[in-house]
Amino acid sequence: MSDKATIEIKGKTYEFPIIEGTENEVAIDIKNLRSSTEGVITLDPGYKNTGSCESAITFLDGEKGILRYRGYSIEELAEKANFLEVAFLLIFGELPTKEQLEKFHADIKAQSVVDEDVRKIVDAFPKSAHPMGVIASLTSALTAFNPSSVNVNSEEDMYKAIVKILGKFPVLVAWTFRKKNGLPLDYGDKNLGYVENILKMMFKQPNEDYLFNPIVINALDKLLILHADHEQNCSTSTVRIAGSSHVGLFASLSTGISALWGPLHGGANQAVLEMLEAIKEDGGDTEKYMAKAKDKEDPFRLMGFGHRVYKNFDPRAKIIKKAADEILNDLGVEDPILNIAKALEQEALKDPYFVDRKLYPNVDFYSGIIYRAMGIPTDMFTVMFALGRLPGWIAQWREMRLNNEPIGRPRQIYVGETLRSFKTIDKR
Ligand code: SDX
Repeated sequence: MSDKATIEIKGKTYEFPIIEGTENEVAIDIKNLRSSTEGVITLDPGYKNTGSCESAITFLDGEKGILRYRGYSIEELAEKANFLEVAFLLIFGELPTKEQLEKFHADIKAQSVVDEDVRKIVDAFPKSAHPMGVIASLTSALTAFNPSSVNVNSEEDMYKAIVKILGKFPVLVAWTFRKKNGLPLDYGDKNLGYVENILKMMFKQPNEDYLFNPIVINALDKLLILHADHEQNCSTSTVRIAGSSHVGLFASLSTGISALWGPLHGGANQAVLEMLEAIKEDGGDTEKYMAKAKDKEDPFRLMGFGHRVYKNFDPRAKIIKKAADEILNDLGVEDPILNIAKALEQEALKDPYFVDRKLYPNVDFYSGIIYRAMGIPTDMFTVMFALGRLPGWIAQWREMRLNNEPIGRPRQIYVGETLRSFKTIDKR
């Protein structure tokens, strides 16, 4: 293959380098396009054809349904690793040794207390507040209580900020959940595993011991791994572009949480459950909702279906679907919603509208069914997605800063009014 791309613009020919990644992905390097063509740029709404960076963290092949973190398949990691190991792998590039993992966890536990004044911010929110709005605010507010987390000009400073947020974010998640449910705010237990402690902080009742269920612990650990990173998705790109202004880690993460909240992105896991509930209330008429999803006049979309990159099964959806069956069976939970989801999936996989557009179930289609079986309320589903995605956002932010990437500042094509003179109000 030629290592150059030739573009002809208004009769003039220009050449640009072709770059190729370790998985043979090919890009035209247009870093010098505007300067070498007197101002020509590319236009690509939604960046469907545009790479924002070179990254060594996550590889996915949408056509083949492949997802790997630092070269390890999602299938292997979901089966053999735990979430903290995967967090270390994503952030630092290698699976940790026993000693590294113990130190990482100890450093995180040392940071797993939140300033008492943060409770005042939690208390200021109405119980009706959506947990994603609360957690985005609390995450940004952490900067005020940890001012040193802003100036991360060394790997050591960065490490301190990273273990701080990995220690404190689960507390903020638990406080957000407990506040909404009128429960006293809790700190869990430093002697517990990372995921065990999250569950205890969230669910411990003030008047009884918390009973650990290994099925629930393993299910949550697997779900967090499956959500941990996904290359340059909407929220990760938001974290990277915010971080490119050299704002601190916590503020950058807060922007990612807000982007994830959207129902077209991480908010879809909540929207899927609401959709399945609506279908159940409507007598389980899946065909009616399939018709709505295909009707261009109807804004309704089949939530949990379709993906910008996957034009095959989302490998995470396959794992979660299998896990949903196992976990509901192990927990002895009968959930008619699961059967409605399966019926919808079967219909969509046969329907030309979905087949022609290569619309398959994505990570959000089945995850909510497991969260619900674990006792997590629907409006907390996207917060659980954020809990899983936290190490991925951190890894991507760290890579962007260590690569000294320039501030993100896209161009545009102006299509508004050309120059015109001001009119006094009596002349308008
Ligand atoms: C996540 O990017 C990531 O990696 C994200 C994520 C991650 O881990 O970070 O994987 C997590 O966000 C998963 C996606 C969760 N969102 C949903 O489930 C919401 C429902 N899905 C759609 O809104 C949609 O599929 C998107 C947003 C996911 C992708 O949209 P695109 O890539 O912009 O595709 P598109 O909207 O241009 O759709 C192409 C065609 C259109 O029809 P035509 O105009 O060609 O006739 O497919 C149709 C769309 O109308 N379509 C759907 C559909 N998704 C796409 N029609 C009905 N139901 C759907 N769900």
